[in-house]
Amino acid sequence: MSSVRGEFSSRFGFIMAAAGSAVGLGNIWGFPTQTASNGGAAFVFVYLVLAFCLAYPALMAELVVGRHGQANAVTSLRKIAPKQPKFAFIVGFGGIICAGLILSFYAIVAGWMLSATLTPIAEITSLDATAGWLSTQSLGRDLIFTAVFIMLTISIISKGVENGIEKWSKRLMPALLGILALLIAYVLTQDGASQGLQAYLVPDFSQILNPDLLVSALGQAFFSLSLGTSVMIIYGSYISKQENLVSLGAYVTLIDVLIAFVAGLLIIPAMYVAQAQGVEIFSDNGTLLSEDTLVFQVLPALFNSMGDIGLVVAFAFFALMSIAALTSSISMLEAPVSYTVEKFGMDRLQATWVIGGLIAVVSFTIVFNFSSLFSFVIALTTQFGQPLLGMLCCIFVGWMWHRHSLLEEIKSGCGDVENGVFWKIWPWYIKFICPLAIALVFFNSL
Ligand code: PHE
Repeated sequence: MSSVRGEFSSRFGFIMAAAGSAVGLGNIWGFPTQTASNGGAAFVFVYLVLAFCLAYPALMAELVVGRHGQANAVTSLRKIAPKQPKFAFIVGFGGIICAGLILSFYAIVAGWMLSATLTPIAEITSLDATAGWLSTQSLGRDLIFTAVFIMLTISIISKGVENGIEKWSKRLMPALLGILALLIAYVLTQDGASQGLQAYLVPDFSQILNPDLLVSALGQAFFSLSLGTSVMIIYGSYISKQENLVSLGAYVTLIDVLIAFVAGLLIIPAMYVAQAQGVEIFSDNGTLLSEDTLVFQVLPALFNSMGDIGLVVAFAFFALMSIAALTSSISMLEAPVSYTVEKFGMDRLQATWVIGGLIAVVSFTIVFNFSSLFSFVIALTTQFGQPLLGMLCCIFVGWMWHRHSLLEEIKSGCGDVENGVFWKIWPWYIKFICPLAIALVFFNSL
């Protein structure tokens, strides 16, 4: 490690950590659910367009701010425009609060993943009552597993960048892709799968300008790339000056979109397979019966159909999902922790526990008031907070940062950027197109 601050030790390590933040429940729980409830392939199409055309440029804005500032989000933004401390605070601190709120609902869903991981173990060991408890939603179960998940997140973050974040992300991300591929191969051999494939891949183009679909796809793209939460600013600050930011950002976007797409290729056909087996997925008027728990309904049905081996597959799948959730949740906790450590000089371990504890309190409040708070916090953060804060960050970089100094930062590690397409388009793009397009999608849906 070259300085007192943590830094990713290798290019692969960074890509895996940033992709680890990006890839998570958003890809395997959020994206398929949103696809299913927003008309299938039309949503996929819009999502892909928005991810590459709006989310990737916004991701680059956040990474470049962080690498330039080499500090937490607020300090990094202030270094760019010392005369705009309030604006920098709104974007940076707003993102930190957004990250904390996201973690508070994310930990609940990740807790469901943890209990789904233990269910097959209880079944294999014939602990039927335990298996029943683990697979049925209850206040006790949700509180326990939410708390366990938050503790796991705290224990990794308290160890810092290289030993905690990087080591875990490098090992687990490739394993996740492997198991997804195997499951897709299986699901496509089942009855009903072709109907699912069609719903997933053949868009109804009359739907693509539907304002609700657009705003959901935009929120999902920002959620999936962890934007508007200052997380990518922090991760950018741990990238060394020798790295080529433009290609790093592109890799992260590609990996994230690929995994979401692949997860959809598993889950949407799996829904139709489950339906062919008699599981009720849609109500009579064609809407989804239970959005939040869709994957917990569809996947166990699929695993059951595999016979005994299904228990092993179920365990492996949910274990990897829990881990994917963990590589995302650590990035959410890192955002407020790095701010507190650098701003108030607090010890890292102490800061991690204090903030983790506060987030746990918010999570428990959501669990106790599930029906009124869960969807509300998700909509507030992902459809409202993230796109708006991401938009403000683009405006900040586009309008407040001196063009010459911005170019110097991007040039470091990517010497010939000035003559390439990226530099011809991107600065202009984040100045005008991104903010306008986000604002348009957003206000259209109000
Ligand atoms: N991108 C993560 C996912 O798809 C969620 C996330 C959002 C992570 C915001 C960090 C910040 O699961």
